[in-house]
Amino acid sequence: MASSSLDTSWCPSELATEVVGHSIRYCPRIDSTNEQALRLAEAGAAEGVVVVADTQTAGRGRRGRRWLDEPGQALLFSVLLRPTCEQSQVAILSLGAAAACAESLASEYSFPVTTKWPNDLLIAGDKVGGILLEQRGGAVVVGVGLNVNGRPESLQAQVGTALTTLEKHYGAPLPRKEVLVGILEKIDDIYQQFQAGGLAEVVDRYRRFESVFGRRVCVHVGQEVVCGTATALTDSGTLLVHTAEGECEIAAGEVELVAGSE
Ligand code: BTN
Repeated sequence: MASSSLDTSWCPSELATEVVGHSIRYCPRIDSTNEQALRLAEAGAAEGVVVVADTQTAGRGRRGRRWLDEPGQALLFSVLLRPTCEQSQVAILSLGAAAACAESLASEYSFPVTTKWPNDLLIAGDKVGGILLEQRGGAVVVGVGLNVNGRPESLQAQVGTALTTLEKHYGAPLPRKEVLVGILEKIDDIYQQFQAGGLAEVVDRYRRFESVFGRRVCVHVGQEVVCGTATALTDSGTLLVHTAEGECEIAAGEVELVAGSE
Protein backbone atom coordinates (compact mmCIF):
# COMPACT_ATOMS: atom_id res chain seq x y z
CA MET A 1 0.00 0.00 0.00
CA ALA A 2 1.17 3.55 -0.68
CA SER A 3 2.30 5.35 2.44
CA SER A 4 0.18 8.22 3.70
CA SER A 5 0.79 11.21 5.92
CA LEU A 6 -0.63 11.41 9.42
CA ASP A 7 -0.54 15.20 9.22
CA THR A 8 -2.40 16.24 12.31
CA SER A 9 -3.87 19.46 11.05
CA TRP A 10 -6.92 17.88 12.64
CA CYS A 11 -7.86 19.49 15.87
CA PRO A 12 -7.15 18.02 19.31
CA SER A 13 -10.76 18.82 20.18
CA GLU A 14 -11.60 15.69 18.19
CA LEU A 15 -10.17 13.84 21.16
CA ALA A 16 -12.40 13.01 24.12
CA THR A 17 -9.59 13.35 26.67
CA GLU A 18 -8.79 15.26 29.85
CA VAL A 19 -5.03 15.61 29.52
CA VAL A 20 -3.58 13.54 26.70
CA GLY A 21 -3.41 15.25 23.31
CA HIS A 22 -4.30 18.85 24.27
CA SER A 23 -1.41 19.59 21.95
CA ILE A 24 -0.33 17.31 19.12
CA ARG A 25 3.04 17.92 17.47
CA TYR A 26 3.18 16.20 14.11
CA CYS A 27 6.56 15.63 12.47
CA PRO A 28 6.70 13.94 9.06
CA ARG A 29 10.18 12.69 9.93
CA ILE A 30 12.11 12.89 13.18
CA ASP A 31 14.96 11.15 14.99
CA SER A 32 12.73 9.73 17.71
CA THR A 33 9.35 10.87 19.01
CA ASN A 34 10.52 9.89 22.51
CA GLU A 35 13.58 12.09 22.16
CA GLN A 36 11.47 14.98 20.87
CA ALA A 37 9.01 14.62 23.76
CA LEU A 38 11.92 14.58 26.21
CA ARG A 39 13.30 17.75 24.57
CA LEU A 40 9.89 19.40 24.93
CA ALA A 41 9.78 18.31 28.56
CA GLU A 42 13.15 19.91 29.20
CA ALA A 43 11.82 23.09 27.62
CA GLY A 44 8.94 23.05 30.11
CA ALA A 45 6.08 21.62 28.02
CA ALA A 46 2.95 20.70 29.92
CA GLU A 47 1.96 17.08 30.36
CA GLY A 48 -0.32 15.61 27.75
CA VAL A 49 1.66 16.80 24.73
CA VAL A 50 1.76 14.11 22.04
CA VAL A 51 4.54 13.87 19.46
CA VAL A 52 3.64 11.81 16.40
CA ALA A 53 5.72 11.04 13.32
CA ASP A 54 5.36 9.28 9.98
CA THR A 55 8.87 7.90 10.22
CA GLN A 56 11.82 7.92 12.64
CA THR A 57 15.49 8.02 11.71
CA ALA A 58 16.69 6.89 15.14
CA GLY A 59 13.68 5.17 16.67
CA ARG A 60 14.52 3.55 19.97
CA GLY A 61 13.40 0.16 21.23
CA ARG A 62 13.92 -1.46 24.59
CA ARG A 63 17.34 -2.64 25.76
CA GLY A 64 19.17 -0.23 23.45
CA ARG A 65 17.70 -1.71 20.28
CA ARG A 66 16.68 0.26 17.21
CA TRP A 67 12.99 0.52 16.33
CA LEU A 68 12.57 0.53 12.57
CA ASP A 69 9.49 1.47 10.60
CA GLU A 70 8.12 1.47 7.10
CA PRO A 71 7.58 5.23 6.47
CA GLY A 72 3.92 6.22 6.60
CA GLN A 73 2.69 2.81 7.68
CA ALA A 74 3.21 2.62 11.44
CA LEU A 75 1.96 4.55 14.41
CA LEU A 76 4.95 6.15 16.13
CA PHE A 77 4.07 8.46 18.97
CA SER A 78 5.05 9.59 22.44
CA VAL A 79 3.05 11.09 25.26
CA LEU A 80 4.64 13.44 27.80
CA LEU A 81 3.38 12.87 31.33
CA ARG A 82 4.26 14.36 34.69
CA PRO A 83 2.87 11.81 37.17
CA THR A 84 2.75 12.51 40.88
CA CYS A 85 3.50 8.93 41.97
CA GLU A 86 6.61 7.50 43.62
CA GLN A 87 9.50 6.57 41.34
CA SER A 88 8.98 2.85 42.02
CA GLN A 89 5.47 3.10 40.57
CA VAL A 90 6.33 4.79 37.26
CA ALA A 91 6.76 1.49 35.39
CA ILE A 92 3.04 0.85 35.85
CA LEU A 93 2.46 3.61 33.28
CA SER A 94 4.18 1.42 30.72
CA LEU A 95 1.81 -1.46 31.53
CA GLY A 96 -1.04 1.06 31.36
CA ALA A 97 -0.03 2.14 27.86
CA ALA A 98 0.10 -1.49 26.72
CA ALA A 99 -3.35 -2.06 28.24
CA ALA A 100 -4.64 1.06 26.49
CA CYS A 101 -3.46 -0.20 23.10
CA ALA A 102 -4.84 -3.68 23.70
CA GLU A 103 -8.22 -2.41 24.94
CA SER A 104 -8.63 -0.02 22.04
CA LEU A 105 -7.61 -2.51 19.35
CA ALA A 106 -9.86 -5.18 20.85
CA SER A 107 -12.92 -2.96 21.26
CA GLU A 108 -12.64 -0.96 18.01
CA TYR A 109 -11.45 -3.69 15.65
CA SER A 110 -11.87 -6.99 17.54
CA PHE A 111 -8.15 -7.69 17.34
CA PRO A 112 -7.20 -10.57 19.65
CA VAL A 113 -4.31 -8.63 21.16
CA THR A 114 -2.29 -10.12 23.99
CA THR A 115 0.72 -8.78 25.85
CA LYS A 116 4.08 -10.23 26.75
CA TRP A 117 5.27 -8.65 29.99
CA PRO A 118 6.20 -5.95 30.36
CA ASN A 119 5.20 -4.17 27.16
CA ASP A 120 5.15 -6.22 23.99
CA LEU A 121 1.88 -6.20 22.04
CA LEU A 122 1.18 -9.45 20.23
CA ILE A 123 -1.32 -10.88 17.79
CA ALA A 124 -1.30 -14.65 17.40
CA GLY A 125 2.04 -14.70 19.20
CA ASP A 126 3.76 -12.29 16.81
CA LYS A 127 4.89 -8.82 17.88
CA VAL A 128 2.74 -6.00 16.51
CA GLY A 129 3.95 -3.23 18.78
CA GLY A 130 5.91 -2.18 21.81
CA ILE A 131 6.13 0.49 24.48
CA LEU A 132 9.25 2.36 25.58
CA LEU A 133 9.03 4.46 28.74
CA GLU A 134 11.83 6.95 29.30
CA GLN A 135 12.39 9.59 31.99
CA ARG A 136 14.32 12.82 32.17
CA GLY A 137 14.08 15.12 35.13
CA GLY A 138 10.57 14.75 36.51
CA ALA A 139 9.07 14.00 33.12
CA VAL A 140 7.94 10.61 31.88
CA VAL A 141 7.62 9.87 28.18
CA VAL A 142 5.59 6.89 27.06
CA GLY A 143 6.45 5.94 23.48
CA VAL A 144 4.31 3.61 21.43
CA GLY A 145 5.35 1.88 18.21
CA LEU A 146 2.57 -0.02 16.45
CA ASN A 147 2.98 -1.80 13.12
CA VAL A 148 -0.33 -0.78 11.55
CA ASN A 149 -0.06 -1.20 7.78
CA GLY A 150 2.41 -2.75 5.41
CA ARG A 151 4.20 -6.05 5.29
CA PRO A 152 5.80 -7.58 8.37
CA GLU A 153 8.63 -8.87 6.16
CA SER A 154 9.73 -5.29 5.60
CA LEU A 155 10.39 -4.81 9.31
CA GLN A 156 13.44 -5.91 11.17
CA ALA A 157 13.28 -9.11 13.12
CA GLN A 158 13.84 -8.53 16.80
CA VAL A 159 15.76 -11.03 18.85
CA GLY A 160 13.71 -14.20 18.82
CA THR A 161 10.50 -12.38 17.92
CA ALA A 162 8.46 -12.67 14.76
CA LEU A 163 6.82 -9.41 13.70
CA THR A 164 3.40 -8.73 12.28
CA THR A 165 1.14 -5.82 11.28
CA LEU A 166 -2.50 -5.04 12.05
CA GLU A 167 -3.19 -5.01 8.30
CA LYS A 168 -2.05 -8.59 7.95
CA HIS A 169 -4.72 -9.72 10.42
CA TYR A 170 -7.43 -7.26 9.39
CA GLY A 171 -7.12 -8.02 5.69
CA ALA A 172 -7.04 -4.36 4.69
CA PRO A 173 -5.13 -1.22 5.61
CA LEU A 174 -6.37 0.61 8.67
CA PRO A 175 -6.79 4.40 9.04
CA ARG A 176 -3.89 5.31 11.30
CA LYS A 177 -5.49 8.48 12.60
CA GLU A 178 -8.54 6.60 13.87
CA VAL A 179 -6.35 3.98 15.50
CA LEU A 180 -4.32 6.76 17.14
CA VAL A 181 -7.41 8.58 18.45
CA GLY A 182 -8.79 5.40 20.02
CA ILE A 183 -5.51 4.60 21.74
CA LEU A 184 -4.94 8.17 22.99
CA GLU A 185 -8.40 8.20 24.54
CA LYS A 186 -7.64 4.93 26.35
CA ILE A 187 -4.24 6.18 27.52
CA ASP A 188 -5.95 9.27 28.91
CA ASP A 189 -8.56 7.17 30.71
CA ILE A 190 -5.92 4.93 32.25
CA TYR A 191 -3.76 7.90 33.21
CA GLN A 192 -6.69 9.50 35.05
CA GLN A 193 -7.17 6.23 36.94
CA PHE A 194 -3.44 6.08 37.72
CA GLN A 195 -3.28 9.66 38.99
CA ALA A 196 -6.34 9.05 41.17
CA GLY A 197 -4.44 6.26 42.95
CA GLY A 198 -5.94 3.31 41.11
CA LEU A 199 -2.60 1.69 40.38
CA ALA A 200 -3.77 -1.85 41.12
CA GLU A 201 -6.73 -1.29 38.81
CA VAL A 202 -4.40 -0.19 36.03
CA VAL A 203 -2.32 -3.35 36.53
CA ASP A 204 -5.53 -5.37 36.47
CA ARG A 205 -6.52 -3.85 33.12
CA TYR A 206 -3.12 -4.96 31.81
CA ARG A 207 -3.29 -8.42 33.43
CA ARG A 208 -6.34 -9.41 31.35
CA PHE A 209 -4.22 -9.42 28.20
CA GLU A 210 -1.11 -11.12 29.57
CA SER A 211 -0.01 -14.24 27.72
CA VAL A 212 2.93 -15.52 29.79
CA PHE A 213 1.12 -17.03 32.76
CA GLY A 214 1.76 -20.77 32.96
CA ARG A 215 4.50 -20.53 30.33
CA ARG A 216 8.12 -21.58 30.77
CA VAL A 217 10.21 -18.43 30.49
CA CYS A 218 13.74 -17.16 30.81
CA VAL A 219 13.70 -13.54 31.97
CA HIS A 220 16.77 -11.47 31.14
CA VAL A 221 17.42 -9.06 34.00
CA GLY A 222 20.58 -7.08 33.24
CA GLN A 223 23.31 -9.70 32.88
CA GLU A 224 21.31 -12.31 34.80
CA VAL A 225 18.77 -14.80 33.51
CA VAL A 226 15.94 -16.17 35.64
CA CYS A 227 14.29 -19.32 34.26
CA GLY A 228 11.09 -20.93 35.48
CA THR A 229 7.32 -20.74 35.04
CA ALA A 230 5.66 -17.33 34.97
CA THR A 231 2.81 -17.54 37.44
CA ALA A 232 1.31 -14.11 38.10
CA LEU A 233 1.62 -10.36 38.12
CA THR A 234 1.55 -8.55 41.45
CA ASP A 235 -0.58 -5.45 41.96
CA SER A 236 2.66 -3.47 41.60
CA GLY A 237 3.15 -4.86 38.10
CA THR A 238 6.09 -7.12 38.96
CA LEU A 239 6.27 -10.62 37.44
CA LEU A 240 6.33 -13.72 39.63
CA VAL A 241 8.37 -16.61 38.29
CA HIS A 242 8.41 -20.02 39.96
CA THR A 243 11.99 -21.31 39.70
CA ALA A 244 13.78 -24.42 41.00
CA GLU A 245 15.04 -22.23 43.88
CA GLY A 246 11.63 -20.82 44.74
CA GLU A 247 9.51 -17.85 43.75
CA CYS A 248 11.27 -14.91 42.17
CA GLU A 249 9.73 -11.43 41.85
CA ILE A 250 11.01 -9.45 38.87
CA ALA A 251 10.49 -5.71 38.48
CA ALA A 252 12.02 -5.26 35.03
CA GLY A 253 13.41 -7.54 32.37
CA GLU A 254 12.85 -9.14 29.03
CA VAL A 255 10.84 -12.34 28.78
CA GLU A 256 11.97 -15.07 26.44
CA LEU A 257 9.41 -17.82 25.96
CA VAL A 258 10.98 -21.24 26.21
CA ALA A 259 9.91 -24.03 23.88
CA GLY A 260 7.71 -26.75 25.32
CA SER A 261 6.00 -24.44 27.76
CA GLU A 262 2.39 -25.10 26.79
C1 BTN B 1 10.15 -2.13 22.11
O1 BTN B 1 11.38 -2.34 22.03
O2 BTN B 1 9.33 -3.04 22.01
C2 BTN B 1 9.64 -0.74 22.34
C3 BTN B 1 9.53 0.01 21.05
C4 BTN B 1 9.01 1.43 21.20
C5 BTN B 1 9.09 2.19 19.89
C6 BTN B 1 8.41 3.53 19.97
S1 BTN B 1 8.15 4.22 18.38
C7 BTN B 1 7.68 5.74 19.11
C8 BTN B 1 8.61 5.98 20.28
N1 BTN B 1 9.81 6.66 19.86
C9 BTN B 1 10.89 5.88 19.96
O3 BTN B 1 12.04 6.22 19.63
N2 BTN B 1 10.55 4.68 20.46
C10 BTN B 1 9.14 4.61 20.76
